[in-house]
Amino acid sequence: MNHANSKPLVTLNDLTVGYDEPLVSKINMEIRPGEIISIVGSSGIGKTTLLRTIAGLVKPLEGSINLNIQPRGGLGYIPQKLGLIRHASVAHNVGLGARAGTSFKEDPLTWWKRRNQRVNDAIELMGLSDKADEPTRRLSGGQQKRVATARTLAQQPQLLLADEFLSELDEDNIDVVVRAVINYLEESNAAMILIEHNIERAVEISHRTFSVREGKLTELSDFGSEQE
Ligand SMILES: Nc1ncnc2c1ncn2[C@@H]1O[C@H](COP(=O)(O)OP(=O)(O)OP(=O)(O)O)[C@@H](O)[C@H]1O
Ligand SMILES: [Mg+2]
Repeated sequence: MNHANSKPLVTLNDLTVGYDEPLVSKINMEIRPGEIISIVGSSGIGKTTLLRTIAGLVKPLEGSINLNIQPRGGLGYIPQKLGLIRHASVAHNVGLGARAGTSFKEDPLTWWKRRNQRVNDAIELMGLSDKADEPTRRLSGGQQKRVATARTLAQQPQLLLADEFLSELDEDNIDVVVRAVINYLEESNAAMILIEHNIERAVEISHRTFSVREGKLTELSDFGSEQE
């Protein structure tokens, strides 16, 4: 697909992120509908902080972020710390995503049917149909990751921010989850920023891969073939 002709969903302008001190500085990037961007880098370097800043949860230290997405449900976030409601069922947790992505303006019964359809579809896509009524605290780490992914897919975001959502999954589940998410992105022409510790997987899944090193975000192809 040619992403170059569409208007960016996200533009980062000289963005510097961090808490007291800068972690990643002077980021300039445009992300267009349908694009998958991945970010790799060692632990504690600021990857989650960057994603949280784009999500509006941390204030930029410098620079700005332009988001060209709908305010209701346009931005979906699968956090590294999942934020599931532990005593509530899988279906309830996924329902929160469906609610965030739907409008209450329509007739309540129409809304309810649409909401349930989204919840069931997302749960099925993540292979969790037999767990729908279980409280999430009784699920394994990998199953909980899939609940958080289903919650965000039920929201039907235009921009998906995913923070290591494949960790704790075994190879078979990774294939299922990756295929489901990529299908969703292609069908909806949505974009994804993925943080991924496995660099091979990052390159395989995404159109462009970036690495955070020494406080800078650098595209992998810019490293050239130099040996280190
Ligand atoms: N709320 C916070 N307030 C102050 N400092 C924080 C906060 N959250 C994280 N940090 C610090 O910011 C740095 C970067 O953390 P961040 O979570 O962005 O790293 P990361 O690259 O995602 O690491 P990992 O791969 O382990 O998830 C760390 O030194 C961390 O201690
Ligand atoms: Mg992190």
